Amino acid sequence: MVLKSLSGRFLILTIIFVMLAEVLIFVPSVSRFRADYLQERLERSRIAVLSVLATPDGMLMEHLEKELLDSANVLHIVLHRDEMQELILDSPMPGMADAYFDLRGVSPWRLIMDACGTLATDRDRVIRVLGEPVKGAGLLIEVSLEEAPLRMAMIDYGWRILQLSLVISVITACLLFVTVRRFMVRPIEHLVRQIKSYEEAPEDVRRIIRPRASVTEIREAEVALNSMETRLSQSLRQKERLAALGAAVSKISHDLRNILTTTQLLVDRMEYSEDPQVRRSAPKLVNSISRAVNLCESTLAFGKAEERHPNITNVSLNVLFNDVAEAERLVIGEAPVKIRVADVGGMQVDADRDHLFRVISNLVRNGRQVLMETTDGGTISLGAVEVAGGWHITVHDTGPGLPEKAIDNIFKPFSGSARKGGTGLGLAISAELIAAHGGRLELVENSADGAAFRIWLPCVTEMN
Ligand SMILES: Nc1ncnc2c1ncn2[C@@H]1O[C@H](COP(=O)(O)OP(=O)(O)OP(=O)(O)O)[C@@H](O)[C@H]1O
Ligand SMILES: [Mg+2]
Repeated sequence: MVLKSLSGRFLILTIIFVMLAEVLIFVPSVSRFRADYLQERLERSRIAVLSVLATPDGMLMEHLEKELLDSANVLHIVLHRDEMQELILDSPMPGMADAYFDLRGVSPWRLIMDACGTLATDRDRVIRVLGEPVKGAGLLIEVSLEEAPLRMAMIDYGWRILQLSLVISVITACLLFVTVRRFMVRPIEHLVRQIKSYEEAPEDVRRIIRPRASVTEIREAEVALNSMETRLSQSLRQKERLAALGAAVSKISHDLRNILTTTQLLVDRMEYSEDPQVRRSAPKLVNSISRAVNLCESTLAFGKAEERHPNITNVSLNVLFNDVAEAERLVIGEAPVKIRVADVGGMQVDADRDHLFRVISNLVRNGRQVLMETTDGGTISLGAVEVAGGWHITVHDTGPGLPEKAIDNIFKPFSGSARKGGTGLGLAISAELIAAHGGRLELVENSADGAAFRIWLPCVTEMN
């Protein structure tokens, strides 16, 4: 749980990184410690050498010699002078020297390697060290000493550094943890709480986030969220108002349709009136009323229009085209309007059969209605081709084309109708049904020679 939270991860990572940095410091520090240790031995030996040189004959009593070697903490001291080696102080050696180190001009990398060698060895070695006790003084001294005390001192020093590193890394990690919690985690938690609270009741404007973070990036996120929530709440309110309006229109349409249906029955009787003028106007009245009933019914249907999701199957276009054509031919009767179905072979598309039937019927019906209004009639052609990623289905007619005023709004409900008695819903519903398939309905041709609508249907299997 802690590991998954932002602050928990930050805490652990900080400890790891600080420890890593400490280790990188640790190795050079221990090697420096070793170099200083050996240098100190050389300096102490120099004092011993100077003491011996101060005696008149360069000879010392044995116990004094031992005391000087003990105080320098070495086994023997050799003074290098003018290419000559002069043994100044000596004590019985436990054996030959096992390693030799020259401290003059030694590189840091060499120092690290030698320090690692000292720590890694498990024998009690005797080492010989050559160096200048005082830099540039011209005095060169060589000493022999046991390595074990040096190793112990190095381990002791290393251990103390490690403990210190641990304390430093814990303190640093805690400080960073508190800072990150204060400046990052808390504002992010606040942001998440606000989003959740808004999600519960988006219509409640009091829940819209009020930017308050001091960190620029989080504040910017809060400001963006604030403007998004404000716009969302506004459009929700607008949608609610429109829904209420829609419900009212539906109720009015419902009652109006009932009133009109009754009127229709009364008007029917007018056909039998004795007054010829009344009889003449009766059919026109019947027509007008049935158009009004039609409009009411369409409005009611659209109000309910919660279309179910398309149930996509393989639909044979040949069968579908012929079904549509057959239904329309019944209405065409003897009128000079033809419906031509192109040979599409066994082409199958991914679509909801009922939805596609309704869409193609709507397009064919529009063409048929236009053509039947003209004296010469014309032809409606249905065709389809397979294209990359889907199919194009085209409905073309040789009518006069769409009137200019209808073009801009043909896909908007109730807005695109330029036909007497049309509700302007056919194309809007068709476009919606095709969009639910992930496709598109477009007017691709419109001239005095005719109009063509094209449906693009995507291939669902390819999308998956
Ligand atoms: N093939 C076409 N040729 C000429 N005009 C067309 C054609 N198709 C559509 N239109 C025009 O576009 C308008 C909108 O068509 P749409 O099908 O949306 O509504 P409608 O036919 O008026 O009413 P309904 O809701 O009963 O279908 C029509 O009124 C007609 O003027
Ligand atoms: Mg129509």
